[in-house]
Amino acid sequence: MKFFLDTANVEQIKRINDLGLCDGVTTNPSLIKKEGRDFKEVVTEIASFVKGPISAEVTSYDYENMVKEAREIATWADNIVVKIPMTEAGLKAIKALSKEGIKTNCTLIFSLCQGLMAAKAGATYISPFLGRIDDMGEDGVELIYNLRTVLDNYGLESQIIAASIRTNKHVEESALAGADIATIPGNLFEKMWTHPLTNAGIESFKKDWQQFINRNK
Ligand code: E4P
Repeated sequence: MKFFLDTANVEQIKRINDLGLCDGVTTNPSLIKKEGRDFKEVVTEIASFVKGPISAEVTSYDYENMVKEAREIATWADNIVVKIPMTEAGLKAIKALSKEGIKTNCTLIFSLCQGLMAAKAGATYISPFLGRIDDMGEDGVELIYNLRTVLDNYGLESQIIAASIRTNKHVEESALAGADIATIPGNLFEKMWTHPLTNAGIESFKKDWQQFINRNK
């Protein structure tokens, strides 16, 4: 499973990219707002050092402007993927853009029907929002399992991005369910490589080694 970073924070992306663990980046208007920087400036800066796909989202919601905006965003760098919301206009835009060879990420997917329709429209990526589904008292991971089954049943080529990830368990369960990618908030990575027993183990090895050295002085 690939790891994307779900943030527009350049420092967080650099830290994980330096570990060789950043396969791509996803942003959205809320994440851009959080950084308080110009949309194009921040996306092109990320694209200057991340080799994998970088999703940048349209902010228009009618078909004509969505396509116009998507065409412009797609010129910002070679690895840009345009994020399009899951609406009737969005489906039409995905169809048109995929015919032009522009890569798309259909975002805000909350049901199997939505995922299936986005895949049939030709979306390069489809993004089911696990955390927000869980917030409604439903099972986000179940949607990943079901999407995996349906895409495989019909040979549909869209890649599944497990999005709205909030916990290590979301990452683990998305991998078990067959998501192609998990897009992970920058501050979650540290929790993924940390375990209290690892820290306790290091402390006890350090202590024993010091005692051994002191004894043999
Ligand atoms: C996906 O691409 C979105 O940017 C993101 O995962 C949304 O997550 P949230 O529900 O934590 O806002």
